[in-house]
Amino acid sequence: MKQYLIKGPNKGVRGTIECDGSKNSCLPLLASSILFEDSIVLTNVPLVKDVLTMCNLLEELGAKVEISEKNKTIKITNKKKHKLVVPYKLISTMRAGALLMGALLGKYPKNKIFCAASGGCSLGARPTNFHIAGFKSLGAKYNLKNGYTILSAKNGLIGNTYKFPKVSVTGTCNLIMASVFAKKTTTILNASREPEVLDLISFLNNSSNSKFIKFTGKRTLQIRGIKKLIRGSHKVIGDRIAAFSYLCVGVITRGKIKVNNINPKHLPKELEVLKRMGCEIKTSNSSITVNAKKKLKPVSFKTNPWPEFATDNQPILMAVLTTVDGKSKIEENVFSQRFQAAPELNRLGASISIKRNTAIIVGQKKLYGAQCISSDLRSSFAIILGSIAAIGSSKVQRVYHNFRGYYQLPKKLKKLGINIKVIN
Ligand code: EPU
Repeated sequence: MKQYLIKGPNKGVRGTIECDGSKNSCLPLLASSILFEDSIVLTNVPLVKDVLTMCNLLEELGAKVEISEKNKTIKITNKKKHKLVVPYKLISTMRAGALLMGALLGKYPKNKIFCAASGGCSLGARPTNFHIAGFKSLGAKYNLKNGYTILSAKNGLIGNTYKFPKVSVTGTCNLIMASVFAKKTTTILNASREPEVLDLISFLNNSSNSKFIKFTGKRTLQIRGIKKLIRGSHKVIGDRIAAFSYLCVGVITRGKIKVNNINPKHLPKELEVLKRMGCEIKTSNSSITVNAKKKLKPVSFKTNPWPEFATDNQPILMAVLTTVDGKSKIEENVFSQRFQAAPELNRLGASISIKRNTAIIVGQKKLYGAQCISSDLRSSFAIILGSIAAIGSSKVQRVYHNFRGYYQLPKKLKKLGINIKVIN
């Protein structure tokens, strides 16, 4: 199994990184291809493992998928009716496979849809109870048999009002897709406003030439059912989580990094927190530059749905804070197990203690290389960051988690002068 071998300490890293398209935007966009009669083309696509898995799933359902790595594009063509069984073998590795439920139900409401329960990062319980409750509110019947969710609406779906008990990103995307061809209007209350959800909305609106999906309140979303979607094309937004990860390579090494192909408005809280720590931030419409001073300040922050600090960026900043003199505090409010990087960072000499949803980090003068294991996508990046700053060699195991969301990471880091090798 592949591992990263990283030699540190890497100091004062400087350079520019071209950010890839957003994985978490691309996945619902790909799932939404099911709603179309003909074909869709996505550009600025990140060809990471999760995206390829979603492409395999679409192929399995009968779509034609053409990928150009050179042009970073994916074309999906729907020639025939989709198969309505989403198999376990592919969906078990990826949480976002659950998005196929909403898309298939939206397109084929009167048929029976079978969807195996999805997998993904182990961040604590990741149920789909809100998704199902949303589908039911549109008139779908739900059953669970042999690990498969079975959905169908004999008389078709009819718009209704559904309030998410807690903001859910894929839940909102799923309910949007299920509502596209529903009769009448669907109202989603307490909807997610994550940039990735807005990206899906703008793709669907642009593909129908009418603004049939719109926010009528801060978290109130209205979807007026339409007749059909024929074809569409869309440029995926830049990945705000990858962008923050790369900026933090600059911060942990007290260097200067510019990230291109990212809208700074997608990371308002993250940039504010970096500024509070004493980093200098410069932005343009599509780039962010961070210049980290030698002496940074500890900081307290909380995760919450956008526009607050993203839970995905939390372990990344935690790694940085292990090197910042003084006591920092993190409150995690989205997932119940999002501190999985902490024991691994402590292996490198960090001092992080966890109590319920709070982490206290006491910054250390030095970290030392060690053998570590990543357990989810973002904690893998946090461990890589710690290893970049640590004195000596670190081996990071189970980096397959990393391949799920960061495109050609070793190549990007090497270009910045970081000593990283992929070994078996
Ligand atoms: N929740 C429920 N029931 C549901 C749905 C959600 O209880 O039916 C709870 C979850 O357990 C969690 C909270 O609601 O406590 C929010 O979960 P959400 O549904 O928003 O998460 P998600 O849609 O499954 C997406 C991203 C995650 C990211 C979260 C939060 C994708 C494919 N995944 O997951 O990204 O952490 O939103 O922003 O978009 C990652 O990229 O590494 C990643 C894990």
